[in-house]
Amino acid sequence: MKIIIAEDYKELSRKAANIISAQIILKSDSVLGLATGSTPIGIYDQLAERYCTGELDFSQVFTINLDEYYGLSSENTQSYHYYMNKYLFSKVNLSKEHCFLPDGVNLDSRAECKRYQELIDNLGGIDLQLLGLGHNGHIGFNEPADFFEKKVHLVDLTEQTIQANQRFFESAEEVPRQAYTMGVGTIFQAKKILLAVSGEEKAEALYRVVQGKISPQIPGSILQLHPDVTVVADRGAAKLF
Ligand code: GLP
Repeated sequence: MKIIIAEDYKELSRKAANIISAQIILKSDSVLGLATGSTPIGIYDQLAERYCTGELDFSQVFTINLDEYYGLSSENTQSYHYYMNKYLFSKVNLSKEHCFLPDGVNLDSRAECKRYQELIDNLGGIDLQLLGLGHNGHIGFNEPADFFEKKVHLVDLTEQTIQANQRFFESAEEVPRQAYTMGVGTIFQAKKILLAVSGEEKAEALYRVVQGKISPQIPGSILQLHPDVTVVADRGAAKLF
């Protein structure tokens, strides 16, 4: 695991965007696994800026997102579809046919998980997977559990995650209780992984992911076994190192 420490969020965003930019420049038809939450917003801003200046071309890139809330449609402003359109898809020349997320309104979870897993497999796997980190060490929406989930699945969100994500909704009651997510196994199969972590409140989770015991109770800890992981953390998130 390579750890890059950035002075602040802005530098973190720039450094993480450098890694994604290099991936796109080296392989124009890269399959990028993408994440949501507040951490990647600065990274997406950087990528959009680089597209505007002509540095980056997304026309052949494919994107596949980690997760989506169960029951939320793409028009719902809290859905991850909406988020991706707002922060990235509408700002760069990605082809709509190349951008994928789980379909939150497909309530047939068996069919949807199968569809999404097959989609990832048919794309030939993920070249570079961007990840954020939940306060409880979750990646995507893989919550602490007794075992590592291998494939795309429907997950029950923990109270801690519901509370943490409440800030995007009017109230905690409005936060969906379930979500579709890539499994830890799906994420692990990505050729490269980029974990971006910001803020002191993530310091303990990041420390446990990087230095702690590998356990499904800290889902991100499995990344210790992956051959190509880069962590970009700001000083706050890295304060326990
Ligand atoms: C959600 C997402 C995760 C993300 C996490 C942390 O739970 N499903 O993919 O990493 O939030 O988000 P933030 O960056 O807002 O702290």
